[in-house]
Amino acid sequence: MWARQDMARRAYVREMFGRVAPRYDLLNGVLSLQLHHYWRRRVVHMLRLSPDSRVLDLCTGTGDLAIELARHLGPAGEVVALDFCEPMLRMGRDKARRRGLNHTTWLHADALQLPFAPDQFDAATMAFGLRNLIDKPAAFREIHRVLKPGGKVAILELTRPTRAPMRWLYDLYALHILPRIGKRLSQADAYLYLPMSIQHYEDRATIAEYMQQAGFTHVCYRDLTFGVVCVHTGVKP
Ligand SMILES: C[S@@+](CC[C@H](N)C(=O)[O-])C[C@H]1O[C@@H](n2cnc3c(N)ncnc32)[C@H](O)[C@@H]1O
Repeated sequence: MWARQDMARRAYVREMFGRVAPRYDLLNGVLSLQLHHYWRRRVVHMLRLSPDSRVLDLCTGTGDLAIELARHLGPAGEVVALDFCEPMLRMGRDKARRRGLNHTTWLHADALQLPFAPDQFDAATMAFGLRNLIDKPAAFREIHRVLKPGGKVAILELTRPTRAPMRWLYDLYALHILPRIGKRLSQADAYLYLPMSIQHYEDRATIAEYMQQAGFTHVCYRDLTFGVVCVHTGVKP
């Protein structure tokens, strides 16, 4: 049972992404200086998937990671792309269709209440979604539940670099430049929310702890691009 405050935050996040959806891909490219494609490819590479894998992409949004996974696996594999915001999901579904990627299922559901029986997936991924979830330990318990034994998880998330001067530069960009660009190109509040949500995101070790508490082993994390993003990985024993 979620507290009223959590429900309100959940509703805020869903509505905000609904408003941002039409311009999300444009903003993603501009604000990440197009690096997000490289980060997604790294995540897919880290998972070392066999071509017949069944993969769940949580908080899939406009589906760029799901599409990268589907491309990587080819028609022998299957990707289930899940999000609770219909306008974001619709953008992803249309994009995949235009690219002829038919082995992806687009599912409107909550990452904290996955509509699957246990032990269904070979891998689960999430890109830039964890930061938005109201209960991160619960998310890891759900992911652990639906993975098959031996299944892998990879979480890509925006982080603050740990060392100066990258940290100073990053704060300057995230707190002052990014909201201005966001305001110009999209909804103002959404791109004020973004730096705030990065500031309040737990540190890397805490996320790793949540994963271990959920039952994952081989938990580790790797910074990319001077620590502006981090990938956490783990295995369900
Ligand atoms: C920043 S976007 C990331 C989209 C995409 N994964 C990407 O890499 O660009 C975050 C997404 O998480 C979704 N989201 C947030 N909380 C969720 C939840 N509890 N269940 C499902 N989706 C959620 C939002 O609707 C949004 O589409």
